[in-house]
Amino acid sequence: MKISEDIRYVGVNDHKVDLFEGQYPVPNGMAYNSYVVLDEKVTVFDTVDQNFSREWLSNLADVLGTRKPDYLVVQHMEPDHAANVATFMSAYPEAKIVASAQAFGMMRNFFGTDWKDRQVVVKEGDTLATGRHTFAFVAAPMVHWPEVIVTYDTADKVLFSADGFGKFGANDVVDPEGWDCEARRYYIGIVGKYGPQVLALLKKAAGLDIRTICPLHGPILDTPDAIAHAVKQYTTWASYAVESEGVLIAYTSVYGHTKAAVELFAEMLRERGCPKVVVADLARDELFETVEDAFRYGKLVLATTTYNGEIFPFMRTFISHLTERNYQNRTVGFIENGSWAPTAARVMKGLFEKSKNLTFCMNTVKILSALNETSTAALAALADEICGGCAQ
Ligand code: FEO
Repeated sequence: MKISEDIRYVGVNDHKVDLFEGQYPVPNGMAYNSYVVLDEKVTVFDTVDQNFSREWLSNLADVLGTRKPDYLVVQHMEPDHAANVATFMSAYPEAKIVASAQAFGMMRNFFGTDWKDRQVVVKEGDTLATGRHTFAFVAAPMVHWPEVIVTYDTADKVLFSADGFGKFGANDVVDPEGWDCEARRYYIGIVGKYGPQVLALLKKAAGLDIRTICPLHGPILDTPDAIAHAVKQYTTWASYAVESEGVLIAYTSVYGHTKAAVELFAEMLRERGCPKVVVADLARDELFETVEDAFRYGKLVLATTTYNGEIFPFMRTFISHLTERNYQNRTVGFIENGSWAPTAARVMKGLFEKSKNLTFCMNTVKILSALNETSTAALAALADEICGGCAQ
């Protein structure tokens, strides 16, 4: 695939991976992107996952013809991109590695060598001229690891963005949901914790004339509309701003009574004109779709049973996925169930103790085993409050 006159795509599509990074289901597979710039000197941008060494080297050889690469730019050391650094260095013994000092430290840990005689160490502001192209390196710490650099090609106005602007899904699958859904699940899941660092990178990128974004996962963004939209979405996500008005109700239910309450509550919200109500069963629905929705919408209602004097384990796990990603700027309400000593609401609220800028609803619903008149009235009061806005 040709990206510009002398930039080629040499990445691979993975349809065998079940869990990306060991936890994210990827039903549409995953792409590990890699690029070659054919200039007076030849530069390769990143390698691919360990299971694709042969396919990647073959893609590379097809593009190179009789030429040999002069540089391998390693923007990110996570093994989905860097697993083949040693393979590459053996296949092309004349090539040098261009990376941050911290990335070379990680190479020593991963490979037992950092190719001391073949290093080009770069930092923010450094450039590499290869003929027509000059690459400017931009530090992007914690997007997604500390050693990350992204690279701006001043000739073709291409930003090689590492994990930034990535997306779940192989590139040979047309995503029926478009870019946003799986780009959002990817962003919130993988870099959601690092909003300030992403905003810092967006600020640096705002000063560049970018015509194409070449990420390490997902499609290449090569129209002004696609780039503007992706930057707008990243700005919202990295700011922890509400993307869409709506309520996510995330619940667990043991015998169906909490589920019945949640279904009634969702109906109450819809009757009150709530623009969007999403209901997720934390034991059955894809966890990271639900995490994504919690960050997408402005309001969250959590419903769970008291369990071992605590809360149902799926709920504890879900809340920890939110708080570890710096969940903030949202309204949160609680529905608890308990047959003899309900404590779930208190436990859930306590788990958000260190979270910033959360508004907790004044109405908390207590269900004693099954809905009755009192708890139904409490659900209605919470629905009124959610629809009318919550107090501090
Ligand atoms: Fe795509 Fe952070 O590795």
